[in-house]
Amino acid sequence: MIELKTEKQMSQQKKYDYLLEISKDILDTEDNLYANLANLSATINFYMDDINWVGFYLVDDQKENELVLNAFQGNVACTRIPFSKGVCGKCISTLETILVENVHEFEGHIACDSATNSELVIPIIINDAPFGLLDIDSPEFSRFSEIDKVNLEKLVKLIEQKYNA
Ligand code: SME
Repeated sequence: MIELKTEKQMSQQKKYDYLLEISKDILDTEDNLYANLANLSATINFYMDDINWVGFYLVDDQKENELVLNAFQGNVACTRIPFSKGVCGKCISTLETILVENVHEFEGHIACDSATNSELVIPIIINDAPFGLLDIDSPEFSRFSEIDKVNLEKLVKLIEQKYNA
């Protein structure tokens, strides 16, 4: 069983060190994609403070240019997002990480939860093709920093390495 390690007064980097170590263990011990994304979203939710939603949207191979909701932690969310809509749509179209300090100023932002004020979205690219994304929301404005971006991009890299052919 994978244990979520914790200590008193962990620094932000220590939390990310544990998050990355445990994410690697999750991916090393299981091949099933949905099970792994479910456990990864639970692990991110455990180690990150001040977030109200974390989860994955994957490119729907049954429908053109549409993302479909996958494993997550948080409130009920939008099931489908066209590539032309929202922060997620922009992320999967540009294949670049998007850090939004204030979602109310992002044109076309899709509000799944009215409590959300900032958001970080990281694309997942597998076999050189858009595969999906990791989306994290916070009720705080400007919650996400370069440190969050760098460490969560490392986590996404682990997913990409696991499922690249
Ligand atoms: N806010 C996202 C939609 C997904 S939810 O945040 C879970 C967007 O604008 O694409």
